[in-house]
Amino acid sequence: MGKGSGFGKTILFGEHFVVYGFPAIAAAIGSTTTAIVRRISGPGWKLIDNRPAVPGYKKKKLDEQTASIENILRFADIDLSEQGISITLGGKLVCASGIGASAASCTAIARALSDEFRLGWDNTKVNACAFEGEKGYHGTPSGIDNTAATFGGIVWYKRDLKGGPPTIETIKMKEPTDIVIASTGITASTKDVVADVRRMKDEKEKWFDQITDDYQDIVNTARKGFEEHDLQLIGLLMNQNHNLLIEIGVSSVELEELVGVSRQAGAWGAKLTGTGRGGNIVALTPGRELQNDVFGTIKQRGFSAWRYRIGI
Ligand code: MEV
Repeated sequence: MGKGSGFGKTILFGEHFVVYGFPAIAAAIGSTTTAIVRRISGPGWKLIDNRPAVPGYKKKKLDEQTASIENILRFADIDLSEQGISITLGGKLVCASGIGASAASCTAIARALSDEFRLGWDNTKVNACAFEGEKGYHGTPSGIDNTAATFGGIVWYKRDLKGGPPTIETIKMKEPTDIVIASTGITASTKDVVADVRRMKDEKEKWFDQITDDYQDIVNTARKGFEEHDLQLIGLLMNQNHNLLIEIGVSSVELEELVGVSRQAGAWGAKLTGTGRGGNIVALTPGRELQNDVFGTIKQRGFSAWRYRIGI
């Protein structure tokens, strides 16, 4: 039996922009997906998916998940033609779009395979395998989700558009802080939303360049904010990043409601996180009291929400 796990994540800065080679900042959250790989009699693989999930998530992702597991097995070059495997997914991470659930499962499966088949993979190899898995979920992943799922902590990530290895740097925080993640309950297709943004970018190049210029200033300042532990600045910049995401058309009525409610309840910053058009928001809520206030207010509105610490 082989075992592995992968962190959930939240993108604090740079979803969508990261696809085009701009740096992004993601934080792993202390909730993981686990995978157990067991050898079974008969060929092929079978999946037992015991992960908690928002309604509809697993059904919507099933075809992509199958493609993802095939990609992972191809990367690992494991022959299942005679003796197959079962893959059991579990863990506390509640699957919803925006939380890096697909990447967390890819990382967990990669680690469990390495464990069971004695592949001796380090984090870089696990990450490369999980990246192949992510391609099953959407054709052109930037790689930020699997990187946060594999390495944990706070990650500065920049892809190399020429196909070379990405820049992955860990940002150290002086001390961890608190966030609230809330779900619209709507599962968006990353593939479709990324394709829509690309279409807009291609149609209105100058407009998109202006937005990415603004974004670049935001993410560079945010990095300094982390290094100087200036959480107020980070919150402000999260709001500014959210405005750019509205401009590129990936917010939604539900996301705006959640962002608005979080800010009214005192969050220092709030933005959509991940794909958008559904999925989740992340609110920066330093201190347990503020975190509980924002969490409670969101719950009162009938949305699902979770409290996490980042920078651990
Ligand atoms: C999805 O979590 C983040 C996107 O930027 C896509 C990607 O980076 O591959 C929307």
